[in-house]
Amino acid sequence: MSAKPVSARLTIRNIQALRDAGEPIAMLTAYDHVTAGLLDQSGIDMILVGDSLGNVVLGYETTLPVTIEDMIHHAAAVCRGASRALIVTDLPFGTASDPETALRSAVTVLQRTGCQAVKIEGGATAAPTVARLVEQGIPVMGHIGLTPQAVNQLGGYYRHGKSSADAEALIAAALALQEAGAFAIVLEVLVPELAAEITRRLTIPTIGIGSGAGCSGQVLVVNDLIGLGLEPPPSFAVPKADVASVIRQAASAYVAELKGPQGKASKEPSIV
Ligand code: KIV
Repeated sequence: MSAKPVSARLTIRNIQALRDAGEPIAMLTAYDHVTAGLLDQSGIDMILVGDSLGNVVLGYETTLPVTIEDMIHHAAAVCRGASRALIVTDLPFGTASDPETALRSAVTVLQRTGCQAVKIEGGATAAPTVARLVEQGIPVMGHIGLTPQAVNQLGGYYRHGKSSADAEALIAAALALQEAGAFAIVLEVLVPELAAEITRRLTIPTIGIGSGAGCSGQVLVVNDLIGLGLEPPPSFAVPKADVASVIRQAASAYVAELKGPQGKASKEPSIV
């Protein structure tokens, strides 16, 4: 019997070790095979197949229309592209509404994509759901603060933890999710001092987005990082490239060349 090579993929233990060593954890979203491969080659620790898929790839106004089939389709492609990063897939709106529904959703996602973990949005009330999945051996990332699946309940996208009551509820939620067994928690658009306080109070990693530098790691929507979108990115995301301009320039050059005198004159080579 030939010995199987040991997988080089990072695990939740590696992610915890990064946090314990004080090394920032780098996470980005990806929705396709090529991007996932490029992020993997760049040394990213975790890839999130976020339901931001709905906004940045599928053109929906919110994440609510994203289905589990959408997530599976894209997460499977990401898993085929990245062999080192730990891959986390979002359970989309309505698929983690109670522990048993969430368990069925998570099992389906893990079996059909090859990803290693799921992410669930929600505060302290999501803790029993997290506990149920963890008990079945499924790593779960929590997500508190600005939880886009609850946009209609929240009444918009804004910073969380400004009042002391809200701050206390967020601290309690983070502690409850950790107690339930979450391996990490996304803190989205929290008051930075509160995000830092939660990070100090937890023993698991916090992954911030728009919540300041005091988290154990950071996550960004990859399109916001590379400047690939039809709308400007949120103010906390500073693009490191302008891929939208590169695409526009290349496509305009192609159109101009094809429709110009040279293009009209040239004949396609015949296929032999
Ligand atoms: O769906 C997503 O991309 C997310 C991140 C913004 C954390 O949940």
